[in-house]
Amino acid sequence: MSDDRPATVPLDHTASTERGNDFETPGQPGRRGLSRRAFIFGAAATLPLAVSGYAVAVEPRRGPILTTYQLSPPDWRPSDGLLRIGVIADLHACEPFMPVHRIEEIVEGANALEPDIFVLLGDFVEGLNGFYAKPLPMADWANALAQLRSPLGSFAILGNHDWWHDPTDRASAVRATLAARAIPVLENDALLIRRPGTAGFWLGGLGDQLAFKGTGRGVDDMGRLLSQIPDDGRPAILLAHEPDVFPQVPARFGLTLSGHTHGGQIALPLIGRFPVASHYGQRYAYGHVHERDRHLIVSAGLGVSGVPVRFGVPPEIVLVEVGAPETLALHNAQNRAEQTTALTL
Ligand SMILES: [Fe+2]
Repeated sequence: MSDDRPATVPLDHTASTERGNDFETPGQPGRRGLSRRAFIFGAAATLPLAVSGYAVAVEPRRGPILTTYQLSPPDWRPSDGLLRIGVIADLHACEPFMPVHRIEEIVEGANALEPDIFVLLGDFVEGLNGFYAKPLPMADWANALAQLRSPLGSFAILGNHDWWHDPTDRASAVRATLAARAIPVLENDALLIRRPGTAGFWLGGLGDQLAFKGTGRGVDDMGRLLSQIPDDGRPAILLAHEPDVFPQVPARFGLTLSGHTHGGQIALPLIGRFPVASHYGQRYAYGHVHERDRHLIVSAGLGVSGVPVRFGVPPEIVLVEVGAPETLALHNAQNRAEQTTALTL
């Protein structure tokens, strides 16, 4: 290199020197290195901004993770076979956090799991006020959900946001919009789902427990729901948007599937999940709960409500595999064998 080439000075150095701050290079006269105090102060000042930016702009909009559970509720016999349930919870369709193209991607990912049945656990509509988000036309998100594909079809319950703001008309509209796309809404109703080679199982949907905002009252009627399910030995699954009903769930339901809490939307080490929309705090905030020989799965859901934030609680699609212990063991052994075969081919 020639010694007479023009001297170049990195723009940052120039700017820094002109401002007379600490961004200077050691070894150059009149320049000092970034002081430890300045570094710590800068990091402390920018960390909350970076975390907030991530929590608002990145995690709520990221592609969903897949969370899988394998369960053997007490009412599942070997003859009931294996049931793979795809769970979609708390979509909260809205711009810009859950636009149509994102719902379509979620549906595509869910279909790739090839479950036997899909259950949609309520809160289809926006959960943010107009300052943060714009509602989507119901037909838009419903058309995307209608693309879910499984041998037994899709079944839905309503969530509190499907009722709130306009208690009767909104719930009616959500119900009709889904029903028009061959997605029945179960509200204190049960259906016998028949499957080839098995006796089938009962699927019950509870009416929303918080339908009337600010009153703590809902349209849930466990007595009516239970009266439709005979003691016929078939397994029974309950769909209940809010998990707080779990302590009152009758033994007839070996498995309850819920959403609503969004896993708190924020989860921090040592502190835990917050805020959790449950009277039981962390107890039913997220994941698998096993009490009184009944199983509960609480999904973190896909969208956001209240505030457009997720941190440490990514959007998720849930896959629940249900069967007797020997059924699950056989299924896992077959999976391992398939994987081994694929690796050796
Ligand atoms: Fe929700």
